Amino acid sequence: MRQSRWPRRGRQLAIAVSVILLGTAMACSASGGPQTRLAADHNVEQRVDSLLRQMTLAEKLQQVQLLPDFLVTDNDAKNGLGSVLSLTDPVRINHLQHVAVEQSRLHIPILFAFDTIHGFRTIFPIPLGTASSFDQQAAANDDLIGARESAAVGLKQIYGPMVDVSHEPRWGRIAEGAGEDPYLGSVFAAARVKAAQGSDYSAPDKVVTSVKHLAAYGQPEGGRDYNTTDMSEQRLRNLYLPPFKAAVDAGAGTAMCSFNAINGVPGCANPETMTDILKREWGFDGFIESDWTAVAELRACPPVNPSDAPWGKPCGHGVAADGPDAAALALNAGMDSEMTSTLIRDYGAQLLAQGRISMSRLNDAVRRILRVKFRAGLFEHPYVDVSKAESAQMLPDAVALARKDAARSMVLLKNDSSTLPLNPAKNTAVIGPLGDDGHAMLGPWWGTGRDQDAVTVLNGIKAQSTGTTTFVQACTLPHTEPPQYNPADDCPAGPGFDQAVAAAKAADQVVLALGESREMSGEATSRSNIDLPGDQQQLIDAIKATGKPFVVVLFNGRPLTLQKVAASSPAILEAWFPGVQAGNAVADVLFGKVNPGGKLPVSFPVNLGQVPIYYNHEPTGRPCDVTQKYDSRYRDLNTCQPLYPFGYGLSYTTFSITNLRLSAATVAARGSVTASVDVTNTGSRAGDEVVQLYIHDPVASISQPVRRLRGFQRVTLDAGARTTVTFTLGANDFGFYDNRGRFAVEPGQIDVFAGDSSVGGLQASFTVR
Ligand code: BGC
Repeated sequence: MRQSRWPRRGRQLAIAVSVILLGTAMACSASGGPQTRLAADHNVEQRVDSLLRQMTLAEKLQQVQLLPDFLVTDNDAKNGLGSVLSLTDPVRINHLQHVAVEQSRLHIPILFAFDTIHGFRTIFPIPLGTASSFDQQAAANDDLIGARESAAVGLKQIYGPMVDVSHEPRWGRIAEGAGEDPYLGSVFAAARVKAAQGSDYSAPDKVVTSVKHLAAYGQPEGGRDYNTTDMSEQRLRNLYLPPFKAAVDAGAGTAMCSFNAINGVPGCANPETMTDILKREWGFDGFIESDWTAVAELRACPPVNPSDAPWGKPCGHGVAADGPDAAALALNAGMDSEMTSTLIRDYGAQLLAQGRISMSRLNDAVRRILRVKFRAGLFEHPYVDVSKAESAQMLPDAVALARKDAARSMVLLKNDSSTLPLNPAKNTAVIGPLGDDGHAMLGPWWGTGRDQDAVTVLNGIKAQSTGTTTFVQACTLPHTEPPQYNPADDCPAGPGFDQAVAAAKAADQVVLALGESREMSGEATSRSNIDLPGDQQQLIDAIKATGKPFVVVLFNGRPLTLQKVAASSPAILEAWFPGVQAGNAVADVLFGKVNPGGKLPVSFPVNLGQVPIYYNHEPTGRPCDVTQKYDSRYRDLNTCQPLYPFGYGLSYTTFSITNLRLSAATVAARGSVTASVDVTNTGSRAGDEVVQLYIHDPVASISQPVRRLRGFQRVTLDAGARTTVTFTLGANDFGFYDNRGRFAVEPGQIDVFAGDSSVGGLQASFTVR
């Protein structure tokens, strides 16, 4: 949960179209599976209609209003307020619900929402970490527990999954998504939606999900949060929209429009993404809420009527003259529920009278909100059992899953001379600013997680080591926020470094716990430099000079530039922000109880200047070649690659992937082909490999990415064991969107690559007829 953000963050024409899409949409999910969207329930539709007929204009305008915890009053509930966000106290939730249900004229319950992003109380790894597991069950576990714990306090909607594909390590919110790949993102989005909602989100332990942020919010210029985005139609559809589509096909009941503008059109004023694509093309029949004050942020600077600006920032994008204009723009574009600002509620009547919005569009918005409330079972079960709320939190099964999935999310980046696993019988020095820091382990968007619940690295190591464990923090990473935050305060070298060296000398082995503070990651945390903050590299160098074996364990919410770390450290474990079981999971991996099997869901650049660098880039007329000059390369880099590519990760054992075979040499445009490989554990201990399947279309009407992930499977194999992994490829996989938004499957060759990362591997081809 974020603390009250008002003071902290200083937060400060088309005629309406009625879009009433009932029933199910037609397409298959990204992975080709059947969709699970709820079919229109006639009973629900009848109840919605009957309620809508009784509503006054004022009640409709209340229903489209969404207020945060610190603004909502009993009076709002009495007046028929639609939704509330960020309240987590079940007593207060119940109180407001009683007022709404018992004292409002039509007894419509409130929908209570929260940012359960990677856990409510039992905090799982940040989503970027979970994506590294390449195991959608890990994401499902996170949402299963998150939904259960959220619902137990009376919440019925979560603002997740966050499915923004991103090529921007400077952007702090890359931590909240599944990384740079639309396919991986789609599989994880669908898994999260299905787990949180189940087949019926009215169940007492389920919630409705809100897929966000529509759209392309992960690609802000310069990596600066909220910044503008310029985007071709084909990129929007091929790279950024697929996880949204997968979430909708999996049944996501609600969605959130984004702060950023695409091609000059802000997310919450964009009729193409909200109405044309989401609602019409994909048949989404739930509602879209705005992001926080995003409607007010549509206004000009200064707005024509500044008196309608009580919410933080006085103005914004400059696509609306003033408050009424912003309200009309957002509603007409397809946004249904206004978060925090109150422009539709305040000016709706005036706008209707002036013909700037229509009753049919307003009815459509209200209808969508009521539909979700009926599906959520709120009319039958509006209240929460307060006496059971606390006992549903942090249950043993939740904690066990958080530990297992944290370990599965870790990526072994380097392990020279089998530095890892460490021997638990030896004496270990835990060193570094994050070595005993439960606060940092929870990462950004920590829900209602508590620092004291988090197992620190020190405690995790102590619990599993039979040798002596010592700890020296060496330096601190401050928790201050801008404008007070001063990067010079990040882990400055000092006497703590000498104590660290002494502790290392006295031990047999060293665990260096380094990375970012949790305040460096998440919303509004863009960084212009993605090196290890402060003097942490100097600390590594000082420990290296002792000659003791050591491992760098990294806690961070984004790719970092690790060239120096890699050059100076024998072993690196990327642990992300692992959540409440951090220390136990780190110890599981360091001592070899768990053999790491995660892979990077995002490229780690050599230098920040390479950004954006991502594996599925389009080819150029001058492909990068460092032996040549007139090629697409950097003069000052003798590589074309990132430091660690997408899909990369090591294990304590070794694997071979062999014998790529296709079921057919040619396939009809609507047909399918299977690709199989054998994978063998060629080492001496059991372990996990993620087999990855990529395709490339070498001749197409528009340049196709050099590779696109279209299948992956994480397998566990005993030493010497072998298995066969088979992937099915169909039109969804070998087709693509063109610049007019049309999906095309073009005849010709498709290359297939199979391997253990996005680089190299086995190759075969088939032809689409
Ligand atoms: C974020 C959203 C979040 C909302 C409500 C916004 O600032 O962008 O992701 O769901 O706040 O907390």
